[in-house]
Amino acid sequence: MTHAPYETYAQAVDFVRGQVGGRRPEVGIVCGSGLSSLADTLEGDVVAVKYDDIPGFVRSTVEGHKGQLVFGTLSGKQVVCMQGRFHCYEGYTAHQAAFPIRVLHLLGVKALLVTNAAGGINPDYNVGDVALIADHLSLPGIAGSCALIGPNLDEFGLRFPSISDLYTPRLRHIAARVYLTHASLRAERKFRLHEGVYAWCYGPCFESRAELRALRTMGADLVGMSTVPETVVAKHCGMEVLAMSLVTNRCVSRREQDTIEAVAAEMAGKAPEIVAEDFPHHEEVLQAAAARTSDVQEFVRCIVREI
Ligand code: 6GU
Repeated sequence: MTHAPYETYAQAVDFVRGQVGGRRPEVGIVCGSGLSSLADTLEGDVVAVKYDDIPGFVRSTVEGHKGQLVFGTLSGKQVVCMQGRFHCYEGYTAHQAAFPIRVLHLLGVKALLVTNAAGGINPDYNVGDVALIADHLSLPGIAGSCALIGPNLDEFGLRFPSISDLYTPRLRHIAARVYLTHASLRAERKFRLHEGVYAWCYGPCFESRAELRALRTMGADLVGMSTVPETVVAKHCGMEVLAMSLVTNRCVSRREQDTIEAVAAEMAGKAPEIVAEDFPHHEEVLQAAAARTSDVQEFVRCIVREI
C-alpha cells in the first residue's frame, strides 16, 4: 500500500504494545550504519520485535541489517531502538521508509534521535568526524518524493507543516554541551564534532562528481541516502528531532580532466598527469562506521541522559 491509512498505524501499535507490555519509551533511536550494535547495549528487561511480524511494516532488503525494534533502557531512560531502517533505494517510497516513525510516535516517543553514515562534502570534514544535522536539502522532497505526499492524516499533523527548526535547537544544544563537557569524547583519537547541512539523495548510486560539486554549491556539507523521510514525518507529528551523521568518506570532488587538453598534451610528448582517484564504496563506509561505533555509542548515551 502506497499510503497507509491511520488504521494501519493503529494496528501496528496494537501489535507492538501486545509484545512489549507496559513499556512506554520516551526516546526513539534510529540506528544507522555502524550504530546498530547500540541496540545490543540496552539494559533492563529488553524485548525485541521483528519488523517482519509487525502489520504495516515493509520488509528490509539490506543484508546485515537486523530489522527489529528493540525496547529497553539506556542511561536510565526507556528507549526504543530501530535496529535497521528502510531506504528509498530499496524501492520503498519515502512514505513507506518513514512508516515506523509514526508507530514510535503512537507508542509515546517524544524525542527522536537519528543516526546515519554520510559522505563529507565540506572539505573541512574528515573520515571519522561526526556532524550534527542543522538542516537538510531534500532534492527528492521538493521534486515530488516528500514522505508527506498523499492524503494528510490529521491525527498526526497539519496538511502544510513548517519544517523550519525541524532539527530541534534544544537537542542540538544538549548535544554540543555534552560534546564540549565530556573530555573523553574529545580526547585525542576521538572524533571532531561539526554542525552542517545534510543533502538527501535517493541512491543507490553514489553521486557523480558533477552532482557533488552542485550539492556543495547549494550549501550541503554532508550527503547520504536516508534520514530525511524519517525526520520530516517526525516533525510533522510534533516530535523533537536530533540527527547526526558519521562521516565515512570524503567526497570533495575535483573537476574531470579535460580530455581534449590531455590528448593534446600526449601528442606534444608530455607525460600524462597522474590523478589519484577516490571513489566511494560500500565497504569503506561500513569500515569507517565500525571504527567509530563505540565513540558514537558513548555520545548517544550521554545525550540520552540529558534529554
Ligand atoms: Cl558519498 N553518498 C551518499 N549518497 N551516501 C553516502 C555516502 C555518499 N557515503 C556514505 N553514505
